[in-house]
Amino acid sequence: MRTGFAFLAVAGFLLSCAAAQSTCNLDLLIKCQGDFNSFLGIPSIANWNNPELLRQNVEVYFQYPGVQGLPHVCRAFSRFKNCLGQGNYTACTSVPSIVASSIKPRPAYEFVKIYTQFHFTCGAGYNTFLNNDCMSATWQTQQQTLTNCRHQFDSDADRDPTNVCVYARIATSCYETQFLNGCRSSPDPGWWSCEYERLGTAIMYPQCALRCSLPSAGGIIGK
Ligand SMILES: *[C@@H]1O[C@H](CO)[C@@H](O)[C@H](O)[C@H]1NC(C)=O
Repeated sequence: MRTGFAFLAVAGFLLSCAAAQSTCNLDLLIKCQGDFNSFLGIPSIANWNNPELLRQNVEVYFQYPGVQGLPHVCRAFSRFKNCLGQGNYTACTSVPSIVASSIKPRPAYEFVKIYTQFHFTCGAGYNTFLNNDCMSATWQTQQQTLTNCRHQFDSDADRDPTNVCVYARIATSCYETQFLNGCRSSPDPGWWSCEYERLGTAIMYPQCALRCSLPSAGGIIGK
Protein backbone atom coordinates (compact mmCIF):
# COMPACT_ATOMS: atom_id res chain seq x y z
CA MET A 1 0.00 0.00 0.00
CA ARG A 2 2.73 2.41 0.95
CA THR A 3 4.68 1.87 -2.24
CA GLY A 4 1.51 2.22 -4.28
CA PHE A 5 0.94 5.49 -2.53
CA ALA A 6 4.45 6.73 -3.24
CA PHE A 7 4.03 5.90 -6.90
CA LEU A 8 0.67 7.63 -7.00
CA ALA A 9 2.18 10.69 -5.35
CA VAL A 10 4.72 10.92 -8.16
CA ALA A 11 2.00 10.29 -10.72
CA GLY A 12 -0.12 12.99 -9.07
CA PHE A 13 2.71 15.44 -9.40
CA LEU A 14 3.13 14.53 -13.05
CA LEU A 15 -0.59 14.88 -13.60
CA SER A 16 -0.51 18.38 -12.22
CA CYS A 17 2.00 19.21 -14.98
CA ALA A 18 -0.23 17.61 -17.59
CA ALA A 19 -2.65 20.49 -17.76
CA ALA A 20 -0.06 22.44 -19.70
CA GLN A 21 0.39 19.67 -22.25
CA SER A 22 -1.58 18.77 -25.32
CA THR A 23 -3.44 15.49 -25.20
CA CYS A 24 -2.54 12.27 -26.94
CA ASN A 25 -5.11 11.14 -29.48
CA LEU A 26 -5.60 7.55 -28.35
CA ASP A 27 -7.25 6.38 -31.58
CA LEU A 28 -4.27 7.59 -33.51
CA LEU A 29 -1.87 6.00 -31.02
CA ILE A 30 -3.70 2.69 -31.37
CA LYS A 31 -3.35 2.88 -35.15
CA CYS A 32 0.31 3.87 -35.13
CA GLN A 33 1.26 1.30 -32.49
CA GLY A 34 -0.55 -1.30 -34.60
CA ASP A 35 1.51 -0.28 -37.63
CA PHE A 36 4.69 -0.44 -35.56
CA ASN A 37 3.85 -3.94 -34.34
CA SER A 38 2.94 -5.30 -37.74
CA PHE A 39 6.08 -3.79 -39.30
CA LEU A 40 8.15 -5.68 -36.72
CA GLY A 41 5.91 -8.74 -36.71
CA ILE A 42 5.23 -8.58 -32.98
CA PRO A 43 1.92 -9.36 -31.22
CA SER A 44 -0.70 -6.63 -31.45
CA ILE A 45 -1.33 -6.82 -27.69
CA ALA A 46 2.24 -5.61 -27.05
CA ASN A 47 1.43 -1.98 -26.31
CA TRP A 48 1.05 0.43 -23.35
CA ASN A 49 -1.23 -2.10 -21.68
CA ASN A 50 1.56 -4.62 -21.77
CA PRO A 51 4.83 -2.68 -22.01
CA GLU A 52 6.87 -5.64 -20.78
CA LEU A 53 5.73 -7.70 -23.75
CA LEU A 54 6.46 -4.80 -26.08
CA ARG A 55 9.94 -4.37 -24.66
CA GLN A 56 10.75 -8.08 -24.79
CA ASN A 57 9.71 -8.24 -28.43
CA VAL A 58 11.63 -5.13 -29.43
CA GLU A 59 14.77 -6.16 -27.58
CA VAL A 60 14.81 -9.50 -29.37
CA TYR A 61 15.79 -7.48 -32.45
CA PHE A 62 18.84 -6.16 -30.64
CA GLN A 63 20.10 -9.74 -30.63
CA TYR A 64 20.40 -9.77 -34.43
CA PRO A 65 23.58 -8.32 -35.91
CA GLY A 66 23.41 -6.14 -39.02
CA VAL A 67 20.47 -4.63 -40.85
CA GLN A 68 17.81 -7.05 -39.64
CA GLY A 69 18.48 -5.96 -36.05
CA LEU A 70 18.61 -2.44 -34.67
CA PRO A 71 18.22 -0.67 -38.07
CA HIS A 72 14.93 -2.49 -38.57
CA VAL A 73 13.65 -1.30 -35.17
CA CYS A 74 14.75 2.24 -35.99
CA ARG A 75 12.81 2.14 -39.27
CA ALA A 76 9.73 1.08 -37.32
CA PHE A 77 10.36 3.89 -34.81
CA SER A 78 10.70 6.45 -37.58
CA ARG A 79 7.45 5.30 -39.17
CA PHE A 80 5.76 5.47 -35.76
CA LYS A 81 6.84 9.10 -35.33
CA ASN A 82 5.65 10.01 -38.83
CA CYS A 83 2.37 8.22 -38.25
CA LEU A 84 1.65 10.21 -35.08
CA GLY A 85 3.00 13.53 -36.29
CA GLN A 86 5.06 15.79 -34.08
CA GLY A 87 2.25 16.98 -31.78
CA ASN A 88 0.76 13.59 -31.04
CA TYR A 89 4.15 11.95 -30.87
CA THR A 90 5.19 14.36 -28.12
CA ALA A 91 1.89 13.95 -26.27
CA CYS A 92 1.69 10.16 -26.64
CA THR A 93 5.22 9.62 -25.35
CA SER A 94 4.82 11.84 -22.30
CA VAL A 95 3.87 10.13 -19.04
CA PRO A 96 1.57 12.87 -17.66
CA SER A 97 -0.18 13.25 -20.95
CA ILE A 98 -0.97 9.55 -21.49
CA VAL A 99 -1.91 9.14 -17.84
CA ALA A 100 -4.40 11.94 -18.50
CA SER A 101 -5.69 9.74 -21.35
CA SER A 102 -6.50 7.14 -18.67
CA ILE A 103 -3.46 4.89 -19.05
CA LYS A 104 -2.25 3.79 -15.59
CA PRO A 105 0.94 5.46 -14.29
CA ARG A 106 3.15 2.38 -14.06
CA PRO A 107 2.51 1.03 -17.57
CA ALA A 108 2.60 4.59 -18.91
CA TYR A 109 6.08 5.00 -17.47
CA GLU A 110 7.23 1.64 -18.82
CA PHE A 111 5.81 2.47 -22.25
CA VAL A 112 7.42 5.91 -22.44
CA LYS A 113 10.69 4.40 -21.26
CA ILE A 114 10.79 2.21 -24.37
CA TYR A 115 10.28 5.14 -26.75
CA THR A 116 12.69 7.36 -24.86
CA GLN A 117 15.34 4.69 -25.23
CA PHE A 118 14.71 4.60 -29.00
CA HIS A 119 15.84 8.20 -29.21
CA PHE A 120 19.18 7.00 -27.97
CA THR A 121 19.46 3.63 -29.71
CA CYS A 122 18.38 5.17 -33.03
CA GLY A 123 20.25 8.43 -32.40
CA ALA A 124 23.43 9.05 -30.44
CA GLY A 125 23.86 5.37 -29.64
CA TYR A 126 23.24 4.01 -33.13
CA ASN A 127 26.78 3.85 -34.48
CA THR A 128 28.22 2.44 -31.29
CA PHE A 129 25.79 -0.42 -31.57
CA LEU A 130 26.45 -1.11 -35.24
CA ASN A 131 30.22 -0.81 -34.86
CA ASN A 132 30.37 -3.45 -32.14
CA ASP A 133 29.00 -6.86 -33.10
CA CYS A 134 29.62 -7.99 -29.53
CA MET A 135 26.63 -5.86 -28.55
CA SER A 136 24.02 -7.95 -30.32
CA ALA A 137 25.83 -11.05 -29.06
CA THR A 138 25.61 -9.68 -25.52
CA TRP A 139 21.91 -8.88 -25.89
CA GLN A 140 21.51 -12.48 -26.96
CA THR A 141 23.45 -14.20 -24.20
CA GLN A 142 22.53 -11.77 -21.41
CA GLN A 143 18.89 -11.04 -22.21
CA GLN A 144 17.69 -12.65 -19.00
CA THR A 145 20.36 -10.93 -16.90
CA LEU A 146 19.39 -7.53 -18.33
CA THR A 147 15.74 -8.24 -17.65
CA ASN A 148 16.67 -9.14 -14.10
CA CYS A 149 18.64 -5.86 -13.68
CA ARG A 150 15.52 -3.98 -14.71
CA HIS A 151 13.06 -5.96 -12.60
CA GLN A 152 15.33 -5.70 -9.58
CA PHE A 153 15.33 -1.93 -9.98
CA ASP A 154 11.53 -1.79 -10.27
CA SER A 155 10.98 -3.85 -7.14
CA ASP A 156 13.66 -2.01 -5.13
CA ALA A 157 12.25 1.37 -6.20
CA ASP A 158 8.75 0.30 -5.14
CA ARG A 159 9.90 -1.15 -1.84
CA ASP A 160 12.19 1.69 -0.83
CA PRO A 161 11.41 4.83 -2.86
CA THR A 162 13.58 7.04 -0.64
CA ASN A 163 16.67 5.37 -2.02
CA VAL A 164 15.52 5.13 -5.61
CA CYS A 165 18.66 6.83 -6.92
CA VAL A 166 20.88 4.26 -5.25
CA TYR A 167 18.93 1.55 -7.06
CA ALA A 168 19.00 3.44 -10.34
CA ARG A 169 22.79 3.58 -10.08
CA ILE A 170 22.88 -0.16 -9.38
CA ALA A 171 20.67 -0.77 -12.44
CA THR A 172 22.85 1.27 -14.79
CA SER A 173 25.95 -0.52 -13.46
CA CYS A 174 24.20 -3.84 -13.89
CA TYR A 175 23.64 -3.07 -17.58
CA GLU A 176 27.12 -1.68 -18.00
CA THR A 177 28.77 -4.74 -16.49
CA GLN A 178 27.15 -7.11 -18.98
CA PHE A 179 28.50 -5.13 -21.94
CA LEU A 180 31.92 -4.51 -20.46
CA ASN A 181 32.18 -8.27 -20.03
CA GLY A 182 30.74 -9.04 -23.45
CA CYS A 183 32.76 -6.43 -25.33
CA ARG A 184 36.28 -6.51 -23.98
CA SER A 185 37.89 -4.79 -26.95
CA SER A 186 36.08 -1.48 -26.48
CA PRO A 187 34.68 0.49 -23.54
CA ASP A 188 31.98 2.05 -25.75
CA PRO A 189 29.36 -0.68 -25.35
CA GLY A 190 29.60 -0.38 -21.57
CA TRP A 191 28.88 3.32 -21.84
CA TRP A 192 26.06 2.61 -24.32
CA SER A 193 24.27 0.23 -22.00
CA CYS A 194 24.67 2.45 -18.95
CA GLU A 195 23.21 5.31 -20.96
CA TYR A 196 20.36 3.16 -22.26
CA GLU A 197 19.16 2.35 -18.76
CA ARG A 198 19.98 5.78 -17.36
CA LEU A 199 17.75 7.53 -19.91
CA GLY A 200 14.98 5.07 -19.10
CA THR A 201 15.09 5.56 -15.34
CA ALA A 202 15.43 9.34 -15.74
CA ILE A 203 11.87 9.62 -17.07
CA MET A 204 10.36 8.76 -13.71
CA TYR A 205 13.29 9.74 -11.51
CA PRO A 206 15.01 12.75 -13.10
CA GLN A 207 16.19 13.86 -9.67
CA CYS A 208 18.77 11.06 -9.66
CA ALA A 209 20.94 12.96 -12.15
CA LEU A 210 23.06 9.88 -12.86
CA ARG A 211 25.90 10.02 -15.32
CA CYS A 212 27.50 7.46 -17.57
CA SER A 213 31.04 7.88 -18.71
CA LEU A 214 33.66 6.00 -20.59
CA PRO A 215 36.13 4.32 -18.26
CA SER A 216 39.37 6.25 -18.24
CA ALA A 217 42.25 4.91 -20.29
CA GLY A 218 44.21 2.42 -18.25
CA GLY A 219 41.02 1.22 -16.61
CA ILE A 220 39.34 -1.21 -18.92
CA ILE A 221 41.68 -0.47 -21.81
CA GLY A 222 44.71 -2.72 -21.78
CA LYS A 223 43.30 -5.03 -19.15
C1 LIG B 1 -3.39 14.58 -32.91
O1 LIG B 1 -4.05 14.01 -34.01
C2 LIG B 1 -5.39 14.46 -34.20
C3 LIG B 1 -5.99 13.62 -35.30
O2 LIG B 1 -5.19 13.61 -36.44
C4 LIG B 1 -5.37 15.95 -34.48
O3 LIG B 1 -6.68 16.43 -34.65
C5 LIG B 1 -4.70 16.67 -33.31
O4 LIG B 1 -4.59 18.04 -33.57
C6 LIG B 1 -3.35 16.09 -33.04
N1 LIG B 1 -2.83 16.62 -31.78
C7 LIG B 1 -1.69 17.30 -31.70
C8 LIG B 1 -1.30 17.73 -30.33
O5 LIG B 1 -1.00 17.56 -32.66
